[in-house]
Amino acid sequence: MDSATPDQNQRPTILLVDDEPINLSVFGEFLTRYYQVLVATGGQSALKLANSKAKPDLILLDVMMPGMDGYQVLAELKAQADTRDIPVIFITALTSDLEEERGLALGAVDYIYKPCHLSILLARIGTQLELKKARDWLRNQNAVLEAEVERRQKENQLVQMQLLQSEKLAAIGQLAAGIAHEINNPVGFVNSNLNTLSGYLADLFCVMDAYAAALAANQIAEPARSELQALLAKKQLAYLREDIPDLLAESREGLARVRGIVQDLKDFAHSDSDTWELSDLHKGLDSTLNIICNELKYHCKIVKEYTEIPQIYCLPSQLNQVFMNLLVNAGQAIETQGVVTVRTGCQANEVWVEIGDNGRGIAPEHISRLFEPFFTTKPVGKGTGLGLSISRNIVAKHGGRIEVDSEPGRGSRFRVCLPIARPQPA
Ligand SMILES: Nc1ncnc2c1ncn2[C@@H]1O[C@H](COP(=O)(O)OP(=O)(O)OP(=O)(O)O)[C@@H](O)[C@H]1O
Ligand SMILES: [Mg+2]
Repeated sequence: MDSATPDQNQRPTILLVDDEPINLSVFGEFLTRYYQVLVATGGQSALKLANSKAKPDLILLDVMMPGMDGYQVLAELKAQADTRDIPVIFITALTSDLEEERGLALGAVDYIYKPCHLSILLARIGTQLELKKARDWLRNQNAVLEAEVERRQKENQLVQMQLLQSEKLAAIGQLAAGIAHEINNPVGFVNSNLNTLSGYLADLFCVMDAYAAALAANQIAEPARSELQALLAKKQLAYLREDIPDLLAESREGLARVRGIVQDLKDFAHSDSDTWELSDLHKGLDSTLNIICNELKYHCKIVKEYTEIPQIYCLPSQLNQVFMNLLVNAGQAIETQGVVTVRTGCQANEVWVEIGDNGRGIAPEHISRLFEPFFTTKPVGKGTGLGLSISRNIVAKHGGRIEVDSEPGRGSRFRVCLPIARPQPA
């Protein structure tokens, strides 16, 4: 195929506008060898064709035409967004500098006098088409670049938010571990003092018993005897003897609970969040449940259905984070009263932890978007929409996956499947 006559479909389209049939036929016949040619004999029909589907790549426009002249046509073309960028070459018998100046000032890309050499016309059309191609390419590139900048901005924003979130969690972990450590000391000495105190009290009661025996055997003389009897009756010694051991036992139980909370905090925060270790997921689940029980206990009944599972290699505090996100989501899905079920099990080389609720469930059209960063259906300030996306990243780091099953109005189940062995680093 001749390089000057490219494939019919790829040929640029030229719109030829002239009221003289002879001009249309001379230029038209010549240009048809190189381009697809549309013709119009007046301004109105030219504008119609310029706005049509087969929009021209360039317009060759006569100036002097009855009705609407070339300048008016050009002004109309420039006024509309759809046609503003089509290059227009005036081709006219008006050989005057002033006219040429006017045409160019209106936005024409070139101004050619009639009669003209057809090869010169062809070359000037070719130049303008090349320029247009370059302009279109630039505009396209600009749009691509702008989209890329926007994409990167979003990506950066996401990384920033995730960083902030994990820094926040690390800070909370450190704080929790620090507080736990500080609480441990006083708890330790109060506990030890309670033990000593109960020994001392036993001794004191021995002494009191001796007094009571002496009283009973009439070995104490008056008036000390009556005073002592009155005092014993007033202070209800028998009641004290019964109640003091109960008080001590309650205090010890209270301390044991404080110790439990401190241990949960420590287990949950797990000071070294980047250390892989063999860990018991039930322990992590229990400490997480204890940490967030305040959020759940008033409107959720927690049902645990643990089965025996092996320890797995994992980053325990990060997995606790996942359990926490899933449990909080389950709690938030329950409007008035409901049940949150925590199940565990294992199959093949995996263990799974399932957190289910009988709350509002998830709309089918939302299922595919749940793990998208910032996807949330919660009111502003209540959810950032990062919980599940961060959880999925953590689980993926463990070589695992999260499966979702939900029925609107009936509840949801999120199952975290994790390999028992440590995954090979990617
Ligand atoms: N158990 C569930 N029941 C119903 N909808 C849920 C449940 N878990 C998650 N979703 C839906 O998935 C969305 C995304 O959850 P995700 O945990 O990522 O963000 P969030 O809870 O909205 O906010 P954040 O966790 O950042 O505070 C929620 O807004 C909610 O619509
Ligand atoms: Mg959440």
